[in-house]
Amino acid sequence: MTDQPTARDEPLVLGIETSCDETGIGIVRGHTLLADAIASSVDEHARFGGVVPEVASRAHLEAVVPTMHRALADAGVALSDVDAIAVTAGPGLAGALLVGVAAAKGYALAAEKPIYGVNHLAAHVAVDTLEHGALPEPAIALLVSGGHSSLLLVEDLARKVTPLGSTIDDAAGEAFDKVARLLGLPFPGGPPIDRAARAGDPSAIPFPRGLSAARDLAAHRYDFSFSGLKTAVARWVEARERAGEPVPVENVAASFQEAVCDVLTAKAVDACRAHGVGTLVIGGGVAANSRIRTLAEERCAKHGITVRVPRPKLCTDNGAMVAALGSHLVAAGVTPSKLDLPADSAMPLTTVNV
Ligand code: KG4
Ligand code: ZN
Repeated sequence: MTDQPTARDEPLVLGIETSCDETGIGIVRGHTLLADAIASSVDEHARFGGVVPEVASRAHLEAVVPTMHRALADAGVALSDVDAIAVTAGPGLAGALLVGVAAAKGYALAAEKPIYGVNHLAAHVAVDTLEHGALPEPAIALLVSGGHSSLLLVEDLARKVTPLGSTIDDAAGEAFDKVARLLGLPFPGGPPIDRAARAGDPSAIPFPRGLSAARDLAAHRYDFSFSGLKTAVARWVEARERAGEPVPVENVAASFQEAVCDVLTAKAVDACRAHGVGTLVIGGGVAANSRIRTLAEERCAKHGITVRVPRPKLCTDNGAMVAALGSHLVAAGVTPSKLDLPADSAMPLTTVNV
């Protein structure tokens, strides 16, 4: 899986991710990805239009051991070779997190390895190091997933992550999922909206840009709001249906996607400029969106800001991101977690590891 030479003295770290519906086990050496094994229960949730926590926990229980074997085989290493085990300790679904944390404790105890309980959101930022190398610090991180949308000032990815703002209602990914549903597109909604939008006109419908008016910026400069946008899309679609007119799915998808990406990238660039930061890293499932990637590049280029976005497969949940953060913590000399570390479904953004 790797095409870079690996230095033997860099830490070999295994990462376990079970915070939502993907059972992910990744193995890295330093910044080099050696394995990224994933088992997803997304198909089991699709008919409910969202992730069902109990179904996710059960699927993790069934998948964690086979996924572990697959990751070790892909990387060509044994558990006894690894220097540390990292695991997502939060935030996420409580039952789902518990499966990963319990598995990590079992493997750490059996193989006598240090364990690092890490923050899923910091891991979405750290995964970029597998593609673009060490993250210049300070950096601004735009974290956009199914559960979170935040702007962070990353002064030290191992120790100092400061939230600048976040969504006051729906997360960006949640908005994609809800709008997809009302357009009759499958769950999760990000990828089908991204595809439909390619054939649509992003300026067809002027959907609102939440918390972007001058009067909102004073109190919410770095915050987001997507619930008004979602409602605006719903009203627009309903009006069409009531009038007996066909819904132009591609144009709605493109115009909605443009509204989301416009606000996210405008605020991210503003945060970089206001803090004198020359690097923007975008992480989380929504970072896989094709439009956010091009719009961020266009806007950052104008201000001499470098944008780093990992390839789409690394943006959505996976074990490699947890391993990447674990490897960064080991290299930074951070003390491992205690073996009785808790899973914390509401872990704050400021906690990089427990
Ligand atoms: O980070 P992630 O895999 O899981 C969480 O931690 O939540 O993010 C999942 C979210 C979903 O809401 C999904 O619709 C969205 O990421 N997503 C996308 C795309 N791919 C996934 N949103 C927009 N465009 C995409 N291409
Ligand atoms: Zn995630």
